[in-house]
Amino acid sequence: MRFTTFLSALGLTSLSTARHAPANSTFLNPVLPGWHSDPSCTRVDDTYYCATSTFIAFPGLPVYASKDLINWRLASHAWSRDSQLPGVSWNTWGQQDGMFAPTLRHHDGEFFLICEYLGQSSGSIGVVFRTRDPFDDDAWSDPVRFETDKIDPDLFWDDDGKVYVATQGIILQEIDLETGEMSQPPVQLWNGSKGADTVWPEGPHIYKKDGWYYLLIAEGGTATNHAVTIARAPAIDGPYEQYAANPILTNLGTSEYFQTVGHADLFTDTQGNWWGLALATRSGPEWDIYPMGREAVMFPVTWEEGAWPVCEPVRGRMSGWHLRPPSRDVPGDKPFNADPDFYAFTGEDARIPAHFMHWRVPREGSFTTTPRGLRVVPSRANLTGQIEHDNLSGRRGLSFVGRRQTDTIFRFSVDLTFDPDDANQEAGVTMFLTQYAHVDLAVQRTGSGARQLRFHAVGNGAPELTELSDLPDDLAGAETVRLWVRAVSPTLFELAVGGTEDGDEGVVVGSASAKLLSGGTGSFVGSLVGVYATCNGNGDGEECPDGGDAYFTNWRYTPIAQFISANESVPADVHPRP
Ligand SMILES: *[C@@H]1O[C@H](CO)[C@@H](O)[C@H](O)[C@H]1NC(C)=O
Ligand SMILES: *[C@@H]1O[C@H](CO)[C@@H](O)[C@H](O)[C@H]1NC(C)=O
Ligand SMILES: *[C@@H]1O[C@H](CO)[C@@H](O)[C@H](O)[C@H]1NC(C)=O
Ligand SMILES: *[C@@H]1O[C@H](CO)[C@@H](O)[C@H](O)[C@H]1NC(C)=O
Ligand SMILES: *[C@@H]1O[C@H](CO)[C@@H](O)[C@H](O)[C@H]1NC(C)=O
Repeated sequence: MRFTTFLSALGLTSLSTARHAPANSTFLNPVLPGWHSDPSCTRVDDTYYCATSTFIAFPGLPVYASKDLINWRLASHAWSRDSQLPGVSWNTWGQQDGMFAPTLRHHDGEFFLICEYLGQSSGSIGVVFRTRDPFDDDAWSDPVRFETDKIDPDLFWDDDGKVYVATQGIILQEIDLETGEMSQPPVQLWNGSKGADTVWPEGPHIYKKDGWYYLLIAEGGTATNHAVTIARAPAIDGPYEQYAANPILTNLGTSEYFQTVGHADLFTDTQGNWWGLALATRSGPEWDIYPMGREAVMFPVTWEEGAWPVCEPVRGRMSGWHLRPPSRDVPGDKPFNADPDFYAFTGEDARIPAHFMHWRVPREGSFTTTPRGLRVVPSRANLTGQIEHDNLSGRRGLSFVGRRQTDTIFRFSVDLTFDPDDANQEAGVTMFLTQYAHVDLAVQRTGSGARQLRFHAVGNGAPELTELSDLPDDLAGAETVRLWVRAVSPTLFELAVGGTEDGDEGVVVGSASAKLLSGGTGSFVGSLVGVYATCNGNGDGEECPDGGDAYFTNWRYTPIAQFISANESVPADVHPRP
């Protein structure tokens, strides 16, 4: 027993621990709550790493690290500098282009993250980023580019040293990681479990186990038909024989709260037991309201020698292989996913927190910390923008910054100091899915000179709503105004003003159904909550008129509860914390 403890403390595997396995553990899904689509995971010694897709959000391609598979700390973003792909972000029109599903792998002391950037007029750009230090954004390389027109690249090293990329289709090519050169022609490996009738065979990952090449894929599309299927072959290029009991994982045709389960990746823990992460949507089979979009869920896998893997179906409450005790002893200084935020932004060493995201690369100098708080220089484009105009489209540096909604029920508040000169200047808080789906509460100056509140909601085909109202009397002359966004139920957001002390949550100005922020123009992404500033098209070129900078301080995001089924919620901090 003591020997076992000693070994696991060192992160080593031993046969004796596998044979006399300790009791199974229970845990809750999602393990990476909030928008975390297309998870790809790997283990290095006693640390697990997962990357997820981020589309046009920036910085993109977060890599999380964990020692216990439950507490996940943001380690770095593989894509954090415009210079890694110069000009590409500002050239992207679509709300759901950008960085599609990545694969994260470790080989010979180095991490490799392969992905594809969609949405350039020249087509997709295949990218391979690499680093020896996954805890430092700056350590990620500029990408080696490769040519492809199929999404979801996998990266697989064979025992003979050859490196392969499998993509949607499912096709296979050898890649030269130094040059990005791909072997031609691609070899088609498998059409999926329904042969040529398979819908969207994609998201491949290849594993070699017990002399077999296993090909795990996603099928059915990323909505409620999503499923994980598998085939295997004695050689990497086939012939692949599919598992008779496919799909090995899906919630299709069930009444489960967790739907769209698919796009999985599998790995072993330090004891040699298998696990997988997949994406899922907390929507129930109605698949109607799910503002957090596609989140990452974990499931245990039983994979005996020579046999096919058996995946435990995805639910809110799970049990599976023994998990090590909760641990936050993970390297790095970035936040753990789904932790509360509190940032004053005013201190000398204040920085923009690592988990904050923009919609495309921001304009240089738009976000700085100052003694008055986070200064946001407005963009000429408002949150919706006019896509046909360069500088009004939001493609070129939309002045928005936010964090993921990681909890079904949460409170977000921030103090805004904003005294604009000009009637078109506006600054406030937003619940943001895409430029065409967001719910906002802003302070604005009226033509007559007073400040007023502007509540605005757009999304998912609903009629656009704008309501102007006076500031409450006690705030009319106040320099600083507190604004709130609250998810008060799984289906309703409330935006409020005022309130200062604990328990005083101000006055509700407007509310919006979470359906506005579910699917539609944002079916691949998930909601962010944050702040913005705009001059609504005034000014010239890229510049707003002077006098419209907004200052935000006391940024608070407070997780309250997670729904793990349609009628069961747990306190948001239920994940064990040491
Ligand atoms: C996939 O389907 C197409 C169309 O039927 C067929 O030509 C091809 O051979 C199939 N590929 C494999 C690997 O079975
Ligand atoms: C522990 O979990 C694994 C993975 O789901 C399963 O195969 C095994 O049967 C479980 N053991 C017990 C005793 O429940
Ligand atoms: C956004 O700004 C444009 C001017 O760039 C304006 O025409 C449009 O009405 C604004 N949209 C909203 C929702 O305020
Ligand atoms: C956008 O702004 C840039 C920089 O000020 C300017 O060079 C460019 O002409 C503007 N584009 C349009 C269409 O106004
Ligand atoms: C939750 O809902 C399910 C399905 O409607 C029902 O079977 C179950 O009894 C409910 N549980 C609770 C605790 O209400």
